[in-house]
Amino acid sequence: MPHEAPKLADPSLFKQQCYVNGNWVDARSKKTFAVSDPATSNQIATCPEFGKEDTVTAIEAAAAAFPSFRKTTGRERSRLLRKWYDLMIQNGEDIAKLITWENGKSLSDARIESTYSAGFFEWFSEEAPRIYGDTIIPSVPGNRAITLKQPIGVCALIAPWNFPAAMITRKVGPALAAGCTVVIKAPAEAPLTALALAELAHRAGIPKGVVNVITALDNTISVGEVLTEHPTVKKVSFTGSTRVGKILMKQSASTLKKLSFELGGNAPFIVFNDADVDLAVKGLIASKFRGSGQTCVCANRIFIQSDIYNEFTNKFVEAVKAFKLGAGFEEGVTHGPLIHERAVDKVDEHVQDAIDKGGKVAVGGKRRPDLGSCFFDLTVMTGITKEMKVTKEETFGPLAGLFPFETEEEVIKLANNSEVGLAGYFFSKDVARCWRVAEALEVGMVGVNTGAISDPATPFGGVKESGFGREGSKYGVDEYVVIKTITTSTA
Ligand code: SIN
Repeated sequence: MPHEAPKLADPSLFKQQCYVNGNWVDARSKKTFAVSDPATSNQIATCPEFGKEDTVTAIEAAAAAFPSFRKTTGRERSRLLRKWYDLMIQNGEDIAKLITWENGKSLSDARIESTYSAGFFEWFSEEAPRIYGDTIIPSVPGNRAITLKQPIGVCALIAPWNFPAAMITRKVGPALAAGCTVVIKAPAEAPLTALALAELAHRAGIPKGVVNVITALDNTISVGEVLTEHPTVKKVSFTGSTRVGKILMKQSASTLKKLSFELGGNAPFIVFNDADVDLAVKGLIASKFRGSGQTCVCANRIFIQSDIYNEFTNKFVEAVKAFKLGAGFEEGVTHGPLIHERAVDKVDEHVQDAIDKGGKVAVGGKRRPDLGSCFFDLTVMTGITKEMKVTKEETFGPLAGLFPFETEEEVIKLANNSEVGLAGYFFSKDVARCWRVAEALEVGMVGVNTGAISDPATPFGGVKESGFGREGSKYGVDEYVVIKTITTSTA
């Protein structure tokens, strides 16, 4: 298939080494792993296969940089983040190209991610000078207390492949704003964007050792062990699956690290009879097919109330038919391949399981080997029930299964019948219902009459087995500070 490799305006952003202590380095073993383009399965780069010792070196670099970085003022750190933000905006098109190349999402989607990801640096550059505590009058007469928010120390940031830029900036922004230093484990499937960000950090004048970016594929588990068990690391932030989150949490227990985990979702998306159907269709497109369904906040269980089920289905199917599936750089392509063949297998499994249990394919439903081994149709199915895999597990792919329901009470029960609770969405014009349902859903984030909820200004995170901690927003910095209480007796 025709698929042109991107020509970067600045080819020096294309890095194939790790960034440690301000230097570009290989693994001690000299081993590398291949990075491939999901659209073609062609190798596009190699990156260092870091091992345990390499990882310890990166942690030591971050530890050595911490004493002086923690003493910088919030204003100084703000200027560094702002400079990094400006460089991201100036190089936004190159960052978008790297995202498309290694992740597969369409260039238009990647451009949105590029801007969104830079927004976290802008936001946290504005938070950095405002990290301060309280003045308290304690119960002992004559005593006065203040609290200081101090940086926690060296942070390990473990990032996923689905947003190769945004999931990194959302963690590094608050860490640096607070005065922490970091070791970023870039996703093995999509490390090139992270390495380009490291180059921009270098150009922004971020002191050596403050930001370190490491890569590994086969050694991912042992690198993860070092990051979660090394006593110098004081905090771990992880975005990924609930299964891996549980392992990392166990490992981190040995040194009682502070944790923030953004784990899997299985988002309910509810359209009530009184909804604006066109708006709900737009909302579902935005939520379900962003990144071809490979986001933790994607609608996964889609409940449509019976009176509008047919109208909604017809309009939704027409909207999905207008998409163009293909390689992300091609003109007019709206949706790209999935990240790898295992992801395609999972979507196929959910489609076949739903068909076996009585579901009907309204559009799509097939692998697309004619486009490449990582392509699957954008798919809509009807007649979904609670017995099907698509209802029980996160598909993480472009399958929208429409589940009919009758009453508000029934759908709230269905929506909350999940071990995870990251995002939830619903559409209704009834104000009282909007409050009732928003408060009843067991999730960390609710979209009411919108399918797009992610924003640097708003807290992002889940409840139940979707994890804990909040990223972005005024709360994001709290994950990277410790509160010290200073009590003074004036008696
Ligand atoms: C994700 O974690 O997959 C969600 C990304 C976002 O919306 O910021």
